[in-house]
Amino acid sequence: MLARSFQRSKGLLRTTRALSSRAGSSIPFVPLVSETGFVGAVGNTPLLRLNSLSKETGANIYGKAEFLNPGGSVKDRAALYIIQDAEKRGLIKPGGTIVEGTAGNTGIGLAHVCRARGYNCVIYMPNTQSPAKISHLKLLGAEVHPVPAVPLADPNNYNHQARRHAESLDNAVWTNQFDNIANRQAHIETTGPEIWAQTDGTVTAFTCATGTGGSFAGTSRYLKDISNGKVQAWLADPPGSVLYSYINSGKLERTGDGSITEGIGQGRVTDNLKPDLEIIDGALHIPDADTIRMVYRLLDEEGLFLGASSCLNVVAAYDLAKKLGPESTIVTLLCDGADRYAERLFSESWLKSKNLYNELPPHLLKYVAFD
Ligand SMILES: Cc1ncc(COP(=O)(O)O)c(C=O)c1O
Repeated sequence: MLARSFQRSKGLLRTTRALSSRAGSSIPFVPLVSETGFVGAVGNTPLLRLNSLSKETGANIYGKAEFLNPGGSVKDRAALYIIQDAEKRGLIKPGGTIVEGTAGNTGIGLAHVCRARGYNCVIYMPNTQSPAKISHLKLLGAEVHPVPAVPLADPNNYNHQARRHAESLDNAVWTNQFDNIANRQAHIETTGPEIWAQTDGTVTAFTCATGTGGSFAGTSRYLKDISNGKVQAWLADPPGSVLYSYINSGKLERTGDGSITEGIGQGRVTDNLKPDLEIIDGALHIPDADTIRMVYRLLDEEGLFLGASSCLNVVAAYDLAKKLGPESTIVTLLCDGADRYAERLFSESWLKSKNLYNELPPHLLKYVAFD
């Protein structure tokens, strides 16, 4: 069992070997104290061994519990770095406004950090996103604009609307998470080092899906560099995204139609992903049927209540474990919890509308809680 605690001191990530195991140790686990409040509590998430999948494959499969970030998702890391970067570059002054185009989780992270730092927060998002995320943003005091989901080439795409909104205000910044590489830097400086330390440098491969690409690119870059190229980096891609095709054939072509996952899948190579294309070892296309089965399996076998992008990541880790064989150690990200999507993922009528209800094995149907 690998267990470590972390402390950041003067910008350095210092790892301290803590307690070899919480269970069975007489010393209690001591969580960090954040003298900087919310922002100091971002990151340093536990690494969870996924026991049933590890046992089945003979590999060590771990998920990083990003849903335990204080804003509830992996995107807290990017939100914090993006705002700190804007402050360092003098783009925003106290009382200013942060404007972002986001499928939701970056917005939630930004809304928290904005409250903690005294900024206004304005969010543009595609109106296809789950209603729970929209209400959540409003509850955090953000001004939310759900707008029709149109391609990036359309001037009314949510990102262009966010940029124009910021340009229309004084003391405002469009944080541009897709091409702002402060996002990737968050994972180079935090997620990657945490995984390396938590696995004692034994990680064999890292995999996750991409939205902006910041999590995948930054974490992969750190793990590649620290391991002298030994750690493999596999991009996991949902239906409707172009990256699986791009990595395999160099063509930006969609594989499959849309997906039930939210926050992942891409139609282009973002500036966050571009610098790390050369270090990618391969790509995995994960169909929605595999993802939804994993949503229910992880709940049933591991007690984990996770959103669809996390479960797609776990399917990718599981597929990779079978590819790389027993003894390998695969790490992925558990990006957020299922509560933001529960009315969809656990609804019989919604699952049927996506032709996914019949994909669930009969013993898991008891978890379909809504009509
Ligand atoms: C639930 C969820 N999973 C995964 C991602 C992808 O993370 P990244 O933007 O770092 O590629 C996002 C991005 O918003 C997300 O909301």
